[in-house]
Amino acid sequence: MTNWKRYTITAALPYANGSKHIGHLAGAYLPADTYVRYLRAQKRDVVFVCGSDEHGTAITIQALQENTTPRAIIDKYHVLIKNSFEKLGISFDIYHRTSEPLHHETAQEFFLDFYNKGLFKEVTSEQYFDEEKKVFLADRYIVGTCPNCAYENAFGDQCEKCGRALSPNELINPRSTLSGAAPVLRPTKHWYLPLNEYEPWLKEWLIEGHAKDWKQNVYGQSKSWIDAGLQPRAMTRDGEWGVKVPVKDAEGKVLYVWFDAPIGYISATKQWALDNNKDWELYWKDKDSRLVHFVGKDNIVFHCIIFPVMLHMHGDYIVPDNVPANEFLNLEGDKMSTSRKWSVEMHEYLETFPDKVDELRYVLTSIAPETKDSEFLWKDYQTRVNSELVAIFGNLVNRVLVLTDKYFEGKVPQAGECSDLKTYVTAQRDKISDALEHFKFRDGLAEMMNIARHGNKLLTEKEPWKTFKTDPEATGIVLYDCLQIIANLAIVCEPFLPFTSQKLFAMLNINGTKLSWQDAGRQDLLKPGHQLGKASLLYQKIEDETIEIELQKLKSKAVVVSSIKQETNSKKQITKVEATTEAKGEIQYDDFMKIDLRVGTILTAEKVEKADKLLKLTIDLGFETRTVVSGIAEFFKPEDIIGTQVSVVANLAPRKLRGIESKGMILMSEDSEGKLHFVSPKVVTDNGSTIK
Ligand code: 2FM
Ligand code: ZN
Repeated sequence: MTNWKRYTITAALPYANGSKHIGHLAGAYLPADTYVRYLRAQKRDVVFVCGSDEHGTAITIQALQENTTPRAIIDKYHVLIKNSFEKLGISFDIYHRTSEPLHHETAQEFFLDFYNKGLFKEVTSEQYFDEEKKVFLADRYIVGTCPNCAYENAFGDQCEKCGRALSPNELINPRSTLSGAAPVLRPTKHWYLPLNEYEPWLKEWLIEGHAKDWKQNVYGQSKSWIDAGLQPRAMTRDGEWGVKVPVKDAEGKVLYVWFDAPIGYISATKQWALDNNKDWELYWKDKDSRLVHFVGKDNIVFHCIIFPVMLHMHGDYIVPDNVPANEFLNLEGDKMSTSRKWSVEMHEYLETFPDKVDELRYVLTSIAPETKDSEFLWKDYQTRVNSELVAIFGNLVNRVLVLTDKYFEGKVPQAGECSDLKTYVTAQRDKISDALEHFKFRDGLAEMMNIARHGNKLLTEKEPWKTFKTDPEATGIVLYDCLQIIANLAIVCEPFLPFTSQKLFAMLNINGTKLSWQDAGRQDLLKPGHQLGKASLLYQKIEDETIEIELQKLKSKAVVVSSIKQETNSKKQITKVEATTEAKGEIQYDDFMKIDLRVGTILTAEKVEKADKLLKLTIDLGFETRTVVSGIAEFFKPEDIIGTQVSVVANLAPRKLRGIESKGMILMSEDSEGKLHFVSPKVVTDNGSTIK
């Protein structure tokens, strides 16, 4: 069915226990936003919901480990993530929270509906309990000796050394990762969703019903889960943080986070409806509403099996018509990971490139992991921005507006009589529509760029700057067509590049909100004589140094983390540095205070020509980047020290070494063999932090 009356579009609710990276953006939020913007451009009835997923064991444990509360964690990250999405132009109609009372009520209603219909299985089993921390332990939070390979730190769900899947009661000498104490087994009752009973329905609805219209990666993964046979799954957990289980005998129990989180889409829609005088039920219960979930591949099972089963069990609800999940986006050859610091976090990108949002949207859509994992490379980002956005899109717009200004005082010239532009642009618009309807965002973007290429080709072939002297009318006709191309681009680029679209409408001096998707293809979007607005550059070229700095930042974050990890893993103790010289004479406190000691990170390192002992370093001191020449070349290879955090005497008077001005000095400790070691902070510290 394509004549949907309305659309309910959801994007996975991010856990609010940390920032989110551009892999998350490419996986779910950007394609969702592009799709929604396209629907809105067609004036379709759509609601786009998202919000923070604020419950779950991970947040509870994190709070225990950081000696804080779940509330403090979620309040911080809810705001950070929400703001980042806004700045990236992700146009949710509502960004809700699962800690809101409306959500708790909605999730409890669902639970009670199943409970009252007798659909749950109640099972009592023995689970590990940490008597010191007074919590039941999820499998991941128990470690012990692997029964297979004798590795001492195997997790309760898997041994990372031999790879064997484990259950916590197989571990020898189990210990709680929270307190280190031996956990004890305690009986506890939980409510299970009998997924196995819904296999026949899943076979009919998903395996037979969506073999053709779902993406292969999504369909394949879901089908293999169902084919392998489903097991009942507990929908409650022991704990205090979450939605309380709303029945008797359930003290100290909350809903499983994957039971309540997807219901968050419904509570978000309810809140939006309350705020906007709409009827939320139409978006969730009317069979003419199309429900589409945008998620990353790790969420497929929850959105294709568990949540649909819940919606079906309830009976009144529609089930998703599609779940166009993406695969993963890797970064510079490795899996993107916030905890390993191998990532570009959304807020970090925005801090560095506040005016380059469409550039990121463009690149992430061009390389979207639609059918398989893909890779973000900073160099590739630079190439795509410079040779596509700047050289094709930006260049067309700039040339046409400058020429129109020069020859026609910024007014739209007269049209020619015969031109096939309408046919071409309409066909392009339809290709983009077709791609977007099928969640092929990369293809849609490529067809949009082809329109800009077409405009450039027209300019190159007709050379209107040459014809003006002899045939100004001919110049006008070409520019007229190119201006119409730009106006059409402003419409069809909007789902992908909303900020560019806004700028284009301003430069063309027309009101974009009055135009819809169906207007794309028109050859008269701008009337002859219409005064254009002020032209400005759409995109700036990205220089090599900018990319170099991003690469160094990435390495420095990851290197520091890995060195900290190594140290913790091997339980290394700080080596005692033997005093090799006699103690110096006493100084006064004021003498010491004159030294401005700061933490910095080595960004680049290279040998100084004809100087065996010297390395030329650039050091990020937070407030500025310095060149420091240091006599450490005998002990370190330049490539090995990039990313290392060091202590710097920041106010040492500059001096010239081999013609290079050195501003500052790095502190080193010398061991009994005369070898030098960096004096580095023990944990990652902001560059520029003072050392006292
Ligand atoms: O993987 C995650 O980040 C989950 N918080 C996604 C939840 S999606 C939905 F169910 F809310
Ligand atoms: Zn093992």
